[in-house]
Amino acid sequence: MNTKHWVVDNYQDIRQHYPQIKEAAAFLQQGEVVAFPTETVYGLGGQVKLNSAVEKIFQAKGRPSDNPLIVHIADQADVEKLACSIPHYAYKLMEAFWPGPLTVILPRKKGEVSELVTAGLDTVAIRMPDHPAALALIKEAGVPVAAPSANRSGKPSPTTARHVLDDLNGRIAGVIDGGETGVGIESTVVDCTGPFPIVLRPGGVTEKEIEQLTGKAATNAVLKNKEEAPKAPGMKYAHYAPEAPLYLIEGTQETIQKTVDKWRADGKKVGVLTTEENQKRYLADTVIACGRRDDLTTVAKNLYSALRLFNEQPVDVIFAEPFPKEGVGEAIMNRLEKAAGHKWIVG
Ligand code: TXA
Ligand code: MG
Repeated sequence: MNTKHWVVDNYQDIRQHYPQIKEAAAFLQQGEVVAFPTETVYGLGGQVKLNSAVEKIFQAKGRPSDNPLIVHIADQADVEKLACSIPHYAYKLMEAFWPGPLTVILPRKKGEVSELVTAGLDTVAIRMPDHPAALALIKEAGVPVAAPSANRSGKPSPTTARHVLDDLNGRIAGVIDGGETGVGIESTVVDCTGPFPIVLRPGGVTEKEIEQLTGKAATNAVLKNKEEAPKAPGMKYAHYAPEAPLYLIEGTQETIQKTVDKWRADGKKVGVLTTEENQKRYLADTVIACGRRDDLTTVAKNLYSALRLFNEQPVDVIFAEPFPKEGVGEAIMNRLEKAAGHKWIVG
């Protein structure tokens, strides 16, 4: 399959790119799948009711079929067409954070989305992305769009169209190229089926912000201790991993450097994932900085592209500095721990 590449570089005025959006939407209407930018990461979209389109999404990604997809909408009124028993606090969340990096899990109405989208669950995940190209595409397609992140399963999520093509070129009908995404990590997934919101996946919106708005919020126990079965099925799979094994490394720059030296003396090519503040302080085969430690939003924005950059370097092992689990640091550490397969070493 020849994958089309529609560039929409003028982020401010999407109307200038109407022919590209129209062509991409026409592919969706014909049951094909196309990738598009959102404010978090690129998504791979298909019509929400059409089994054959949803199958194409799972096939292109190599995604396990028990991992449900998020339904993307462009109009908040569509929530009531897809979900029922919507609690008051969920409306508060949608009004405060939509369009934006928040996904709500609600009881689903029967027959509104393909059973493949919800992977047999009686709930549905819904979000309204904050990106002009995504919103224009969904409106033009005229239907809600099911979309996981547009990466091959297990790889870091794509934050540029280049990342999408690296993983999916020839496997999808096209990609709308809106440049680099802003937030850089995926939306916060919030279970809204109980008496108060429960964060199933940390993301751009923090638990604190949710709590401030709704009075009470919690984080799913599985994120804190790993005993319970994950409630967001996707959380149980290996994810975000670069090709070389990655370890989170605890220690000072001096002790971390000593560990790097030891592995290099053993003949290993060592990569270090750090931030701009510390980049020049390490001597290793590859040192990559993702953003600034004093502004974790820059780390979130650059994390996945940094992980992908290691695949272009001849490294046998990667050591990553950890971050404080506060604010967006919670989401960053959630992704890094998964990328590391929860492997820690002390430097
Ligand atoms: O920012 C994002 O959320 C991006 C962009 C493209 O919108 N999408 C994304 O989708 O990250 P995906 O498929 O990579 O992750 C969706 C997560 C998975 O962990 C999945 O298990 C969970 O949401 N999920 C989906 N439907 C669910 C449901 N009904 N109940 C619980 N978890 C659900
Ligand atoms: Mg994903």
